Amino acid sequence: MRRRTSLNGIWKWVFDQYESVLRSHLGFVSATAKKHVDTIFPPDWRMMRIPCSWNLAAPELLHYDGALLFQRQFSYRRPPRNRRVFLCFEASYYQTRVWLNGAEIGMHNGGFTPFEFDITEHLRTRNTLHVWVDASRRAEWVPCCLTDWYNYGGIFRPVFLEERPRDAIRHFFVFYRGGKVHVRIETTGRRMGHAILEIPELSVRQDLKVYNRRCRAAITCQPILWSPAKPKCYRVRCLYGNDVIEEHIGFRTIEARAGRIWLNGQPLKLKGVCLHEEAAPRGRALTAADRRLIFDTARALGLNFLRLAHYPHAREMALEADRRGILLWEEIPVYWYIQFTNPQTYHDAANQLTELIRRDCNRASVAMWSVANETPEYYENRTRFISDLAVLARKLDPSRPITAAIFKRNENQKITVADPLAASLDILGVNQYGGWYAGTWDDLKHFANIHYPDKPVIISEFGADAKKGLHGRGKFTEDYQRALYRHTLTAIRQNPYIQGVTPWILFDFRSPNRINIHQNGFNRKGLVDADRKRRKLAFYEYQRWHF
Ligand code: GCU
Repeated sequence: MRRRTSLNGIWKWVFDQYESVLRSHLGFVSATAKKHVDTIFPPDWRMMRIPCSWNLAAPELLHYDGALLFQRQFSYRRPPRNRRVFLCFEASYYQTRVWLNGAEIGMHNGGFTPFEFDITEHLRTRNTLHVWVDASRRAEWVPCCLTDWYNYGGIFRPVFLEERPRDAIRHFFVFYRGGKVHVRIETTGRRMGHAILEIPELSVRQDLKVYNRRCRAAITCQPILWSPAKPKCYRVRCLYGNDVIEEHIGFRTIEARAGRIWLNGQPLKLKGVCLHEEAAPRGRALTAADRRLIFDTARALGLNFLRLAHYPHAREMALEADRRGILLWEEIPVYWYIQFTNPQTYHDAANQLTELIRRDCNRASVAMWSVANETPEYYENRTRFISDLAVLARKLDPSRPITAAIFKRNENQKITVADPLAASLDILGVNQYGGWYAGTWDDLKHFANIHYPDKPVIISEFGADAKKGLHGRGKFTEDYQRALYRHTLTAIRQNPYIQGVTPWILFDFRSPNRINIHQNGFNRKGLVDADRKRRKLAFYEYQRWHF
């Protein structure tokens, strides 16, 4: 069995923008550094409750996107020889470097997906953990230094220790296709062995042969298929030696073909909305109550779909969506102008995609993986970079369509998709702002997917800023936003190519780009104000609308 010990709670922290504490006080990053007179006294440690977005933890951190050093002490009884102990982070933004009892443990790049380190050899009865987190904005990272969202930093999702048997389940993935439950298992420890897959409600208990720490199998069975109308999940257990993983999993099929999206063999239209992971008072460290509010608001709008933009949200979103019967678009932050010719940038993007898919592959609600958002097709190597990510996603998960949000193109009075990246996608996300940045709010009347007609289209963004309470005929009023929704949604309903829509966006959100007198640091395209309560006129326009 596994044993978890939470490390959430009060951690010490200190500014360490120049790694000076790592270097002088702790001697971690350069053994040659002479002991400095400053080191006569300890660092000026302060206290912070983890997990959190540090920007909201102290006034001087609101606009801070540099590096902090954290310290956490904890006791741990030494594990038996046949067990390993892992230090697990659900997410830490962006670069995280770890030392335990003075020994360097490892580093992780990527701000939104889980990662872990085997710390067994360095554990003592009394331990001192140092974690250095750098949230600076760098051109070579994913996302790059320019985004239309707030750059929250910190260890903003849970941290815990997990003790596991040496012979354990490293990865466990099941999906339903062709009347069978397909199983993929990866193990650690001994090379060969036997795993067992149990689905008690379906009378499945299947012995599986593990060879070279891997196993693939297919088991014929007839589950009740998961759907928004009936989000049926089964208790599924995977056993290997003394290790057990148990999940509640829904079985369904999701496909993109003949210009439509098919759930369990039936065509489906997706009425959704885009979401950032943010609650203004807490940054990205959402609570269960924050997530309930999101799903309750989605239900009020009559949605069956959510686009979790522009990066992996907490795993609890997909767990809740499984229970509520809401389909999800999940995404990695290959956003705008990243360094498409930099191998390290590709490694970061591929690693985040891998960590996301391995985390959420068993969630029935996850309908598609998105590998990019609004990346300029003329950038050198951009199409190759993202097409390679699509190939990787299909290798990791053959059961779901791959998408990306791309730009439309105006072609002889028609609006089409002509982006070469479309050839590598199964579903085409089209961001268009007719009536806001350019064009008119009736533009989608002229949309025709003539180059890729077999690929279904989702309008993955449209919208307009509106300051809550501002009324009139001009832009930034609620009335203009409502009128734009009315016209755009009418065009969408009448267009045979469009199979889904996720307007930009459910809640107003922080963005340093948005600084006019109506925005004051917030992107105001929300259907609801940043307080997540006050609904705008366009909310009711969208609530009434359906395909
Ligand atoms: C872009 C982008 C969003 C941005 C939005 C806007 O399409 O994908 O991240 O916030 O449009 O301009 O408001």
